[in-house]
Amino acid sequence: MKITKICCIGAGYVGGPTMAVIAQKCPNIQVTVVDLNEARIAAWNDADVANIPIYEPGLDAIVAEARGRNLFFSTEVEKAIDEAQIIFISVNTPTKTYGKGKGMAADLKYIELCARQIARVAKDNKIVVEKSTLPVRTAEAIKSILDHTGNGVQFQILSNPEFLAEGTAVQDLLHPDRILIGGDSSEEGQKAIQALVGVYSNWVAADKILTTNVWSSELSKLTANAFLAQRISSINAMSELCEKTGADVNEVAKAIGMDSRIGPKFLKASVGFGGSCFQKDILNLVYIAKSYGLNEVADYWEQVIIMNDHQKRRFSNTIVQTLYNTVADKKITFLGWAFKKDTNDTRESAAIYVADDLVNEQAQIAVYDPKVSEKKVLADLDYLETRTSAQNKAYVASFEDPYTACKGAHSIAILTEWDEFKDYDWQKIYDSMQKPAFVFDGRNVLNAAEMRAIGFVYHAIGS
Ligand code: UDX
Ligand code: ADP
Repeated sequence: MKITKICCIGAGYVGGPTMAVIAQKCPNIQVTVVDLNEARIAAWNDADVANIPIYEPGLDAIVAEARGRNLFFSTEVEKAIDEAQIIFISVNTPTKTYGKGKGMAADLKYIELCARQIARVAKDNKIVVEKSTLPVRTAEAIKSILDHTGNGVQFQILSNPEFLAEGTAVQDLLHPDRILIGGDSSEEGQKAIQALVGVYSNWVAADKILTTNVWSSELSKLTANAFLAQRISSINAMSELCEKTGADVNEVAKAIGMDSRIGPKFLKASVGFGGSCFQKDILNLVYIAKSYGLNEVADYWEQVIIMNDHQKRRFSNTIVQTLYNTVADKKITFLGWAFKKDTNDTRESAAIYVADDLVNEQAQIAVYDPKVSEKKVLADLDYLETRTSAQNKAYVASFEDPYTACKGAHSIAILTEWDEFKDYDWQKIYDSMQKPAFVFDGRNVLNAAEMRAIGFVYHAIGS
């Protein structure tokens, strides 16, 4: 089957960059990204590509090249579904906040709405691709909805999980370690798989495109994220032991990472992992394991989350204890709010939880993040529902300039590893702060010896 028209439902962190790269690499395929959120689509269509809603290094140039040629952003969901041969579903699947599986299971209501809409609109055969991270066997549910509510046309469901990491999305998409496509073993299923393989073959070598059954593909995504997160919780567990024993976690990570069986990546101790995927996917895995009565499997993976929550809480506790057991009315400046560098995404960012703890202690939080607005910072805190919006506003403010944010502070806490933090004039910052001037480096990005030479009381993670 020759693919000439693709549509993607959901113009978010996954759908936007993925479709931009497909459009750039496949100039003969018309790619339309649709979303219900009119403001988001308007931002994707902004004449100035600097204003696209997602910050990813290199993404603006790709959008500038392909947009209007074969890449389109639109709110006309039904029209795009109707015209496309392949429909990607890239809508959000947050953890449920209500009912059965609350706090654990993925909320599939947006996926189901998409499936019902596709069924209603489709007048010819379609390939439907799950791109969002989903619990195992979601494809089956999508298929059931499509087959029972459709217009008698044929649907093939593929699982094609996204492995891009935010901040490096463009490079990850251009040079993927692998592309995974799960599909049905029937002849029609295999044809659908080959159609999607054909799209990726425009820029990905054949030996990097794996095809599997649908459930292996769905479970591989959860497993990959669980393994990656587990490495971070493992090194973070060691960071606490290092602090007690006098070992240095950076040295330990380097020493073990040189073992080729372990490898050096994802061994950076931190204030805790964030992001939209790790916690959600592990909770989902735990929920699935429990639902099959596999309690040991569930407990094993849940510990990764427990350790991560502990690491965040440990960081805020260290700040309070070090600042003479009280931070009430003290100005504490957060450098960084995003869950990692080079993204404006803040979902599940450790900064949110650390701030919440410190506001409970009545600290005054000043935030500077190069890509996150004050509106977003306050919305993230409000979402926790610990206190009213007005109360959050009374304790947390954000600044456009790091030096103003740090002025008069009792302490600085580094929550995101933005490169620019290393290049600041730390002497100038020190001179403008209350003394003793504390720095809690939740990302181990600064040079401890240089910071101490200036006069800072400098705390790193795991040393
Ligand atoms: C992750 C997976 O890496 C990606 O393959 C999947 O598609 C989506 O989930 P993402 O959440 O975007 O990607 O970023 P990632 O680089 O994995 O970082 C996740 C969190 O772990 C961040 O908060 C990061 O700061 C933290 N982290 C990462 C560490 O604390 N230490 C490390 O060594 C690596
Ligand atoms: P992700 O990180 O998975 O890409 P985002 O929240 O950034 O998640 O993006 C998901 C997008 O999907 C949002 O912009 C949301 O408006 C959109 N969306 C959710 N449900 C639908 C739907 N039924 N039709 C169209 N767009 C949808």
